[in-house]
Amino acid sequence: MNAPQQPSSLWSSIARENAGPRKSVVRVVDAWYVACASTALGKKKPVAAQILGVPVALWRTSSGAPAAVLDRCPHRNVPLSLGRVEKGELECRYHGWRFDGCGKLTAVPGLPIVEEDAVLAQARDGRHRCAEGFRVVERDGFVWVWLSPRDPATTLFPQPLRLTQLDGEGYTHIRQSLRVHGTLHGTLENILDVPHTAFLHGGLFRTSEKKSEIEAIVQRRRDGVEAEFVGEPRPPGFMGSLLSPSGGVVRHWDRFFLPSTAQVEYRLGDENHVLVTTLCTPVSETVTDMHNVLSLRTRFPIGAIATLAGPIAWKILSQDKEILGAQTDVVGRFGGERFTSTSIDLLGPYILHLLKKAEQGALDEAIVREERTRLRV
Ligand code: FES
Ligand SMILES: [Fe+2]
Repeated sequence: MNAPQQPSSLWSSIARENAGPRKSVVRVVDAWYVACASTALGKKKPVAAQILGVPVALWRTSSGAPAAVLDRCPHRNVPLSLGRVEKGELECRYHGWRFDGCGKLTAVPGLPIVEEDAVLAQARDGRHRCAEGFRVVERDGFVWVWLSPRDPATTLFPQPLRLTQLDGEGYTHIRQSLRVHGTLHGTLENILDVPHTAFLHGGLFRTSEKKSEIEAIVQRRRDGVEAEFVGEPRPPGFMGSLLSPSGGVVRHWDRFFLPSTAQVEYRLGDENHVLVTTLCTPVSETVTDMHNVLSLRTRFPIGAIATLAGPIAWKILSQDKEILGAQTDVVGRFGGERFTSTSIDLLGPYILHLLKKAEQGALDEAIVREERTRLRV
């Protein structure tokens, strides 16, 4: 892990980026967020990302390790992501100042040697003219960045979430990233919300004819929440027929893990297992990146599944993206979120509660509670 010294100005730049009235009810700064997929980060070109409104430039140092700095050259404020990677260092596009993996200034082209030595010594000793560096780790195929000036070891989330399903045998993993116009909470709730599927995705996934009443068991934990759906018949839509042509009962779980991960799991019979983990990154208060890892074990060849289910999955995602955009426009127009709920809004209210606690640096009380609710699907 790169652990650059955290300059005090870093916190003020984050605060500045987030100045003004809050549009979203939650913002958890002390957290690891995915900046990009590992495959997006090559050795030559830096990558521009944004987390919580803060622009970040990423690149690989000569060892191949990722590095991340504020995307703003300390010289004349040009985005460093416009530059290039030279011998593992980031070179600014405008006047060629260079920075190492911790953001330290290492070259000022054109400056007489003696003066350059003095300037670089000042950079070494006091970080004068240096870029603001961020902690960064690469894990499970993603590059994660820590923005906060606090040491992660002293916070609620010292490590990024591990994707343990990548260790499972017989699985195919499909990765895909998508940007939505939605708050972090709105996006997480959408991924885990069952009642909307019959309407927004009617016919593709579930239908709006409510046929059976099933039970949901909701387990609240200190750092997350899970809903298990008991007795859910195979969905009548196309996706259900594909995965389980003979019908039968589906085992289904929806989960949220603090600070920003949603997970949906389906088991149809013994042979079909679908696990979708979505790592969410709050790009700004109203824009969220969804980094999806779909882990599949089915009785069908994976190519056939991808050909048949790919366009439908894409249609479902487009419908979600459109509705989140419309919701976020209204939230913006009215200056903030305001919700009312019923008992079948199973997870959204608790996700909001957990995020609000996490923003204050706390977890919920250490009581594991189980609640049973009935809903028609
Ligand atoms: S603006 Fe970056 S080197 Fe001048
Ligand atoms: Fe949806």
